[in-house]
Amino acid sequence: MDRNYFELKDWIDETRDEPLETMGGFFDRRVDEYEDHMSHWKNHYRWMADTLPEGIGTLLDIGCGTGLELDEIFKRFPEISVTGVDISGEMLSALSEKHGDKNLKLVCCDYFVWEMGVEQYDAAISFETLHHFTIERKKGLFEKICRSIKPGGVYIECDYIASCPEIEEITFSECRRRRRRDGIADGTFVHFDTPLTLQHELEAISAGGFSKVEVLGFLPEDDHTPMIIAYK
Ligand SMILES: C[S@@+](CC[C@H](N)C(=O)[O-])C[C@H]1O[C@@H](n2cnc3c(N)ncnc32)[C@H](O)[C@@H]1O
Repeated sequence: MDRNYFELKDWIDETRDEPLETMGGFFDRRVDEYEDHMSHWKNHYRWMADTLPEGIGTLLDIGCGTGLELDEIFKRFPEISVTGVDISGEMLSALSEKHGDKNLKLVCCDYFVWEMGVEQYDAAISFETLHHFTIERKKGLFEKICRSIKPGGVYIECDYIASCPEIEEITFSECRRRRRRDGIADGTFVHFDTPLTLQHELEAISAGGFSKVEVLGFLPEDDHTPMIIAYK
């Protein structure tokens, strides 16, 4: 078991009585401090922008938030047409204020429910939004994402993973306990991190129907946030 597990266990003990917050509510309430909080991902945002294939014209960004990854992507592709989906209206308002001059369509919706269409996008991305869901849910989502990408297109994901199986187990089990305690209905998303191991994340993406899924690696400053690329 690694060091992250023991740190996580301490955090779970310290916060065990804190009430859960719904996903949208959590981000709506924190929009003002959000970009400062995420500033340490700067190199990952740049890496994602650099990883996108040359010449793409259409992009789907699920869980786009205030668009920190888009800040970098627009520098490389100023004319790109982006569809951003997010469950938090406040996050989308901040994005629209920041990039109102860009070719940007924003949809305030749960991306598990939203109809993504068929062969609409040259590429799809997600950054730090998928570490809250079970492998079963993700498999269905990746099928939708794969369907929405044009033949030859790519899906790129940058998100943190459980660095050992025990982290996946303890977070899901603690999340279930807090949901029961707070009487949260099935199907209501809460903001409580439940990352999958890299093996399970890759299994979920592969089940989406991509022809090849590759881990591009990690940045030196972080050993549990891989960049993953999947080819349709
Ligand atoms: C940590 S933020 C990341 C935002 C952005 N990608 C970034 O890196 O700055 C996660 C975002 O995912 C959104 N999100 C989480 N679950 C979602 C869902 N089921 N449908 C749509 N958006 C969701 C949240 O509202 C939030 O804006």
